[in-house]
Amino acid sequence: MAPFEASLDYARKADQADALHHFKAQFHFPHHNGKEVIYFCGNSLGLQPKSAHAAIETELKTWREQAVGGYFNGANPWLYYQDYCKPALAKIMGASNEEITVMNALTVNMHLMMLSFYKPTPTRYKIMLEAGAFPSDQYAVETQAKHHGFNPDDAIIEIFPRAGEKTLRTEDILQAIEEHKDSLALTIFGGINYYTGQFFDIPTITKAAQAAGAIAGWDLAHVAGNIPLQLHDWQVDFAIWCSYKYLNAGPGAVGGVFVHNKHAQQTDVNRMAGWWGNDEKTRFKMEKGFYAKPDASGWNISTAQVFNTVCLKASLELFDQADILALRAKSIQLTNYLEFLLQQLPNLQFEIITPADPAQRGAQLSLYFPNNGKAIHQKMIESGIIVDYREPGVIRVAPAPLYCSFEDVYIFYEILKTNF
Ligand SMILES: Cc1ncc(COP(=O)(O)O)c(C=O)c1O
Repeated sequence: MAPFEASLDYARKADQADALHHFKAQFHFPHHNGKEVIYFCGNSLGLQPKSAHAAIETELKTWREQAVGGYFNGANPWLYYQDYCKPALAKIMGASNEEITVMNALTVNMHLMMLSFYKPTPTRYKIMLEAGAFPSDQYAVETQAKHHGFNPDDAIIEIFPRAGEKTLRTEDILQAIEEHKDSLALTIFGGINYYTGQFFDIPTITKAAQAAGAIAGWDLAHVAGNIPLQLHDWQVDFAIWCSYKYLNAGPGAVGGVFVHNKHAQQTDVNRMAGWWGNDEKTRFKMEKGFYAKPDASGWNISTAQVFNTVCLKASLELFDQADILALRAKSIQLTNYLEFLLQQLPNLQFEIITPADPAQRGAQLSLYFPNNGKAIHQKMIESGIIVDYREPGVIRVAPAPLYCSFEDVYIFYEILKTNF
């Protein structure tokens, strides 16, 4: 598609050539001064699919008309509700259906996975993650270390960028793994760091962590629905993510979990169990003794949260239609176009801290404003552009390819050019 042009005509032609452009009409956009906003905040909360309303109404109807019968009858029997999301998520994550489950929420699932896979010993107890990881992840590893009687200052290894750099080099992560190979129990990086937008080399880091004798888990909050993965082939031990960002499942929607078959099939892996993870053959016998399902859903604990999962189910139908590989191909073009246009704005003093290499980023570009980021963010909001601000100094701009267009990116640029 390149060379790009900074013109509305070019952007409109790019939209006409885009086979995914029609998906935009499947989403509700907020309004500002009577016009649809430019929504570049799907990395925080994805837009509502128009199909969500009918999907919720379907389950309300089942509840209204069949009450408890809804577990076995109705349009989508609730007993198996989590299963409906597995095939689409398996495609997005590069996994088998058996390696996927949906339950709880991200940080809860991170704790549950660590309770199964963080098995510290007096000599091998360290947890490694990127410095500046999302606070919830930092709190989770801090309290897990404490839970096992370790001092977080000693047990947690944070990898920092080199002096004068904003993102991490894979070679430095690998070197740190090598340095700590005798004491490392777990690596748990954010697949994409929420602040910088850097996408880490998941297969290389996973391989190195495992070669050092550690378990490799990933927080894929900013990757799920953004970049297609191959978690099974990459031998990732476990991964967790939320569904309210690129997956458009609504605020606080059910979280997602991947457990590699090599672990999921081992029903004796220790876990915090509940009846929804028990083999269905014996679940309703109401007897003593937990028999884990021999797959990722063996980590389910409570009854399927139907109303927390219904919008994910609806949204995943759109992902299936669009295809994650096609979305990624569009996303690379869209974000590259955004980068190109931002480079034409000499009056705005900022630095794009997200890696320039498209293979090392998803939809998001993080713009670092050394002085007035917060004020500029406020002005963008007042101009009908929805982006978010993260301290210190970063405005995150994420055109999600399912509902953002080249014209949106161009108009964003034009507003910045005229107002800043
Ligand atoms: C990278 C990352 N990890 C964890 C979380 C926390 O997720 P939850 O509140 O669903 O537990 C978020 C939320 O935005 C996140 O971006």
